[in-house]
Amino acid sequence: ARKVIITEDTSLPTAKAHKIKALQNQHGERVKVFGWVHRIRRRGKNFMFVVLRDENIFFIVQCQTYDAITLSSEATICVYGVVRPIPEGQTAPGNQELVADYFEVIGHSPPDGADTLLNEEFHPDIQLDNRHMMLRGENISKILRLRSIVTQCFRDHYFDRGYYETFPPTLVQTQVKGGSTLFCLDYFGEPAYLTQSSQFYLETACPALGDVFCITQSYRAQLGRTRRHLAEYTHVEAECAFISFDDLLDRIEDLIVDVVDRVLKHPEAHLVFEVNPGFKARKRPLRRMNYSDGIEWLTENGIKNEETGRFYEFGECIPVMPERKMIDQINEPILFCRFPAELKSFYMQRDPKDSRLVESVDVLMPGVGKIAGGSMRMTDFEDLSESFRENGLKTESYYWYLDQRKYGTFPHGGYGLGLDRFMKWLTKRHHIRDVCFYPRFVGRCKP
Ligand code: 4AD
Repeated sequence: ARKVIITEDTSLPTAKAHKIKALQNQHGERVKVFGWVHRIRRRGKNFMFVVLRDENIFFIVQCQTYDAITLSSEATICVYGVVRPIPEGQTAPGNQELVADYFEVIGHSPPDGADTLLNEEFHPDIQLDNRHMMLRGENISKILRLRSIVTQCFRDHYFDRGYYETFPPTLVQTQVKGGSTLFCLDYFGEPAYLTQSSQFYLETACPALGDVFCITQSYRAQLGRTRRHLAEYTHVEAECAFISFDDLLDRIEDLIVDVVDRVLKHPEAHLVFEVNPGFKARKRPLRRMNYSDGIEWLTENGIKNEETGRFYEFGECIPVMPERKMIDQINEPILFCRFPAELKSFYMQRDPKDSRLVESVDVLMPGVGKIAGGSMRMTDFEDLSESFRENGLKTESYYWYLDQRKYGTFPHGGYGLGLDRFMKWLTKRHHIRDVCFYPRFVGRCKP
């Protein structure tokens, strides 16, 4: 007969604490494991199976105890016992189970566990109000673990290629993108903004540190609720000195291909396929396409401007919908290059072969759209000052940026990649919010 556990049997060997991840090497030893009760299956009054969770690696525990009655999901426990492979014909996470000889409750949870708070059928706003509990779910925790790994792979890529990491301020008094998406704030009585991009700061680091990158939060006061816009997002940005536009494209291609390679070589690469079973890595070279070829492509494929009913012409902005149709139909990443100057930012360098164009690039991904944008930067002091004035910006506020063109100007370029959008692509999530720890968008600033 099974023995019901009441107190720890002190004649047993002393148990050493292990994470679930490490138990594979401890079969046959008496161990103790701390964790959260993910699920409980009761068999009769005194016997239960517990799916235990730590860092969201799940694991079955067999227990025989009076306390089984009072235990509910999300409680914390410490379980003592011996780990063994699961019996033939059964399945369990990691193919192992712990046969408990004793357990202690560290912190109880309400009788229904977290079930009354939420489940995946609840309204999205209720799920977001309870994001702190949703995180404990299998899927979200996998995505967040993956995001940590992906971020590390970006860093490893840059360090391997000889970049230095910089830490630009996020409280600023200048703008990189249009004023309409600026978050304004009162900075000790002076007007200031939350940064939209660290580009200008990175440019000032090149003469001091060479090639540089940062992984910093950026902010956009974006009013529309879309599946790919956030008010706060993680911006991976880099700036490189003495490169050509082709070098810039090579570097962006290298970044995307190499980071995916690194993720797939990581010991937890299985997370990618658990979250996105159909994921396929892309090989070099990535497709490069000029804006003018894009316009032709749209015409050849019968995609018209819905407002005018006509085909797109050179000089027109290609809105999100036709752009999406194009990428999804081509169905591979595209480096979309050389836009007309009027459609792009005022600091971009003109194309030496066609002065109507700028040396700019958008990285487009199937299912997501634009995940990165970059360009060569204007190097001439007078041209850049003029461009600031034409855009209604006071050159005095940007003296520090313009000084880069006064004290030893240099050809350089860089880009910004939205980490959240990259994650949306990698994990094939419907919504960008799904890859955020605590997403921020219009109407949502809690918890
Ligand atoms: O294309 P953007 O606006 O480019 C810049 O800010 C440049 N100054 C970057 C640089 O050259 N250093 O933004 C870059 C990327 C976009 O391609 C997109 O992936 C992401 O940032 N992004 C957003 N991600 C989520 N929510 C938003 N509201 C975003 N806005 C931009």
